[in-house]
Amino acid sequence: MSEFNVAVVGATGVVGREMVKILEEREFPLNNLTLLASERSAGEIINYRENKLEVQELTKDSFNTIDIALFSAGSTVSKKYAPIAVKSGAIVIDNSSAFRMDKSVPLIVPEVNPSDLTRHNGIIANPNCSTIQMVIALKPILDIAGINRIIVSTYQSVSGTGKDAVTELTEQSLKVLNNKKPKSKVYPHQIAFNVLPQIDEFEGNGFTKEEMKLIHETKKIFNNKQIRITATTARVPVFYGHSESVYLVTDKKITIKKLKGIYIKTKGIRLVDDIANNKYPLAIMSETYDEVMVGRLRKDLTEPNGINMWIVANNLRKGAALNAVQIAELLI
Ligand code: A2P
Repeated sequence: MSEFNVAVVGATGVVGREMVKILEEREFPLNNLTLLASERSAGEIINYRENKLEVQELTKDSFNTIDIALFSAGSTVSKKYAPIAVKSGAIVIDNSSAFRMDKSVPLIVPEVNPSDLTRHNGIIANPNCSTIQMVIALKPILDIAGINRIIVSTYQSVSGTGKDAVTELTEQSLKVLNNKKPKSKVYPHQIAFNVLPQIDEFEGNGFTKEEMKLIHETKKIFNNKQIRITATTARVPVFYGHSESVYLVTDKKITIKKLKGIYIKTKGIRLVDDIANNKYPLAIMSETYDEVMVGRLRKDLTEPNGINMWIVANNLRKGAALNAVQIAELLI
C-alpha cells in the first residue's frame, strides 16, 4: 500500500485546518482525505489542492475505510472515538492530552524520540505544544552535557486554546480600543491587553494542568525521570506562536559558542541570536518559519553550568499539526 486513506477529526478547528494544509504542502501520499467535525460543521467546504471537500459529521462509522486518523477535537472526542477508530483498523495520531501519559501509548517528537514509535497499540500521542518546542531545543544539550534542572516560563498564544479563543481576543481588543467593556467566555479573565498566569485548571498541588503536562511529558519523551523540572505557564494576548524562557543547569560544562555551533547544524532548529542587531526569536516570526527558534543564549552569571535561553515556535504547526503529520510520515 503506497497511498493512504486519512481522516482529520476536528478539521474545522485551528489545528485541524493546519493539518489539512500540511498534508497538502508535504504531498502526503493520500488516496482519500476525510474531514470530520461536529454536526454543527457538517457540509462546510474545505479546500484540499483543487478539490472542495465537504466536512462530515463524526460518527462511530466514520473510520471504516481509514488507515490513519489525525485527531484534534479535544480529549473528550479522542477518548470516545480513538478506540473506535483503532477497532476499525485505523492508526490514530492524537493531538489531545487523553492518552499522552498512558504507558502503552508512545509520545513522539520525530526529531527527539522516533524510536519509541516502534511499540504502539494503534494510538500514538502528539505532545503538548509547549513541550514539543522545549524538548527539540533541549535535546542536543541533553545528548552532549546532560541536564540536571529545568526552570521554564511560557508565554503562550491564544490559538493554543482553539478558534473560540482567537475570536475572544479579537472581540475583546476591539471593545477595549473603543472604550467598551469586554466580555470573557473562554478565559476566566480578560485576555486582551492582559497576561493570565493560568493555563487550564489548577491541580491540588498549586500547579496548573498545563504546567504538569510540560513536566510529565518532558520526562516521558526524554525517557528520564530524574530531570528536575518546574514550570509556570502564562497566556498572553498574542494570536500565534508560543514563547518560552528556559533556564537549565547541565551536568557537564558546555560553552555558549559550542552550543551555538551545534544549533546551527541541528535539523529542525533555527538559531536567531544576534543581540548586537536586536535579533532574537519573536512570536510573529513563527508564521514564517516551521523550525523551533532559539536565541538569547547566555551563561548564568551565578551558576557555572547554568544557561538561559528563549525558545519560540508556531504552536499550531510544529507544536501540533506538523508534528502529527511528521509522525504519520515516520509511520509509513
Ligand atoms: P466544530 O467546528 O464543528 O465545532 P478548536 O480546537 O479550534 O476549538 O476546534 C475544535 C475542533 O473539534 C473543531 O473542528 C470542532 O468542530 C471539533 N469538535 C468539537 N467537538 C466535537 C464533537 N463532539 N464531535 C466532533 N468534532 C468536534
